[in-house]
Amino acid sequence: MRILANDGLDNKAIDIFKEKNFEIDTNHYEIEDLKKVIVDYDILIVRSATKVKKDLIDAAKGSKLKLIIRAGVGLDNIDVKYANSNDITVKNTPNSSSNSVAELVLGHMFGLARHIVLSNLTMRQGQWNKSKYTGIELSGKTLGIIGFGRIGKALAGKASALGMNIVYYDRFKNENESYTFMSLNELLVNSDFITLHVSATDRPLIGKEEIDMMKNGVVIINTARGGVIDEEALLNGLNENKVGGAGIDVFEEEPSLNAELINHPKVSVTPHIGAATFEAQERIGEEVVEIVLDFYDNLANIAS
Ligand code: MLT
Repeated sequence: MRILANDGLDNKAIDIFKEKNFEIDTNHYEIEDLKKVIVDYDILIVRSATKVKKDLIDAAKGSKLKLIIRAGVGLDNIDVKYANSNDITVKNTPNSSSNSVAELVLGHMFGLARHIVLSNLTMRQGQWNKSKYTGIELSGKTLGIIGFGRIGKALAGKASALGMNIVYYDRFKNENESYTFMSLNELLVNSDFITLHVSATDRPLIGKEEIDMMKNGVVIINTARGGVIDEEALLNGLNENKVGGAGIDVFEEEPSLNAELINHPKVSVTPHIGAATFEAQERIGEEVVEIVLDFYDNLANIAS
């Protein structure tokens, strides 16, 4: 079997594939070149950089390509329905990065609560703004988690250990007994910090109307997907001092060209690095290997 890991893969996973005599190629092909070579592979592994849309799937149609793996959680860069309708299975690795994303959320929260981002910037410019940077504690504050899947739950555990009150909203579940379920509107009204852990949405989940409902000085964190928060509404909220701070890892457009948001003094930004830890990437590699071996076993069973 030939595998193309078009956006790279953890070295341990590559070694396992080699040991098991899979042929694994880690060249990166841009989309037009990828369309030409895709027919030579049985399995395509991508992260977020490669967009597997209709045109690429059309190029692979009827070839030996039977499995696409998203080494990560979000499937928004893959047209899953179209791939499935062309007899190509699509899998992701939902279990591996929750801890890393949850820690990044806390990083942004601490950074904003204690003015760490601005302190770094201004001290490097020779300023000593001790009296300006009185912060707040996370302990005792209410953290509203929108989307209570693996990442939301991992974060709830960590934040509650810090003394935060956890409330959550999820479209599908409200059965977690350790934390308080609220409707989305209740959560917006009652939270000091709000963080999103939902899949990509067609239209923003958080826009002007939702921001208007929030507490004055609310801190909003988005490590989910660009577009789940309306960036213009967020900027207006920040400029009108309705929003006290925002921690943003994902953007409507990536790399982001929204200079006003990136440079805003009340914003802490990172370039979509939620899952970018050695630990998460290693676990993602392990999950990818498992998916491939299962797939291979199933094929062997069908053939025998
Ligand atoms: C994911 O969906 O796994 C994360 O956003 C990480 C990524 O896309 O790089």
